[in-house]
This record gives sequence, structure tokens and C-alpha cells, in this order.
Amino acid sequence: MTSQKIIQQGAEAVIFLEKNNIIKKRIKKSYRIPELDQKIRKLRTRSETKLLNKAGEIIFSPKVIKSDEKEKKIIMEFIDGKKLSDNLDNFPKQKQIEICKKIGKSIAKIHEKEIIHGDLTTSNMILKEGKVYFIDFGLGFISKKFEDKAVDLHLLKQALEAKHFKNWKELFKAVENAYKKSKNAKIVLERLKAVEKRGRYKH
Ligand SMILES: Nc1ncnc2c1ncn2[C@@H]1O[C@H](COP(=O)(O)OP(=O)(O)O)[C@@H](O)[C@H]1O
Ligand SMILES: [Mg+2]
Repeated sequence: MTSQKIIQQGAEAVIFLEKNNIIKKRIKKSYRIPELDQKIRKLRTRSETKLLNKAGEIIFSPKVIKSDEKEKKIIMEFIDGKKLSDNLDNFPKQKQIEICKKIGKSIAKIHEKEIIHGDLTTSNMILKEGKVYFIDFGLGFISKKFEDKAVDLHLLKQALEAKHFKNWKELFKAVENAYKKSKNAKIVLERLKAVEKRGRYKH
């Protein structure tokens, strides 16, 4: 047996590193009816594979090596870089801004292809050789709706505010400015304001 190292044990999946591959295996949930549980894990494996493949054509993301619906696992390229959640704050501010411009550009590209990432936090971004890789399309979906795109951006804004609070406003500005160059950006960013207003009334 080749050696496997557990990198993360999440709520939904276990992540292993084996040789130079990542294995994301969706684990059983004992509170679900077994047949339903199987079905859900199979469909999520299928959906994440599709989104990784689709995103991989337009932005940097791990290449899928094999998708095994029976085993509920995706074998993908290991991105051996720096996870932004742990590293963004350690870079000089100008570099942080440059990274955020790349993030904004990539979000614009996937949104143009109607891909909603669904969990845009810096834990799902890895910097390698100056490129920002987007990982974890587990909550992703396809949608043309401006609302869904605005919520995607809103999540990132909240993540920056919570985790990278020192420069978060400038960082999100950089994301927004890069995003602005895309088709429909104006409408999505208008919608973002509405999403934020709604958020404020909720608390
Ligand atoms: N392709 C990959 N290359 C490098 N690290 C990865 C890769 N996929 C996942 N990881 C690591 O495993 C963690 C969890 O994987 P992720 O797909 O985000 O699962 P979860 O849905 O549990 O958040 C990531 O934050 C990252 O540290
Ligand atoms: Mg994740």
C-alpha cells in the first residue's frame, strides 16, 4: 500500500495526500438513511468533478485525475503552494492587493461561464508560482442569476473582513476593481449592495 497522509478531516469529506495527488473522499453520514446518503455523496462527487473540470478550462484549479462515484472520491492534482487563509496577511500589502486582483479576475471569469463557487473564502485558494488556484467546488453550482453571483462576492467580502481584517477594505476593493472588467459586473455589483443591505437588517 502506498502511504496516505490525512491532510484534513472535514464535516463532509476527508482529504488525503497520496504521492502527488489529493484524494477527496466524501464520508458516510450515519444520520442519513443509507440509500439516500449514498445518493447524495454520489451526486456531490459528480457535481464537484464537473465544476472542477469546467472551471479548469478558464481559471487555475486542480486537474481532476479520476472521479470515482462508487467510492465517492475525487483524485486530483495536489497544488503544492501556500493556502491564502494562512499566508495572505504575511505578504507585503502591495502583494496582497495584487493577489486580490487575480482573485477578482478569476471570479469574473467563472461567473461569465455561470459558475458559482459557493464558498469563496481564502481557505479555498492556494497561491502557487504567482497563480491563485481555486479549490473546493463542493458547494458550487451553475447559475445565470445576478443574485447568486452577488452572494458569491458577498461571501468573499465577509471572509476578508473576518480573517484578513487589517487591510480587508482595500483587498476587497482590489477584487471589485478586477471584477468590474467583466460582462454584467455593474449589475452584479449593484446587486451586491442590495445583498449587503438585507444582511444588515437581519442582525
Ligand atoms: N487539490 C488540492 N491541493 C492542495 N491542497 C488541497 C487540495 N484540495 C484540498 N486541499 C486541502 O484540503 C483542505 C480541504 O479541502 P476542501 O476541498 O476545501 O474540502 P472541504 O469541503 O472540507 O472544505 C483545503 O483547505 C486544502 O488545505
Ligand atoms: Mg474548503
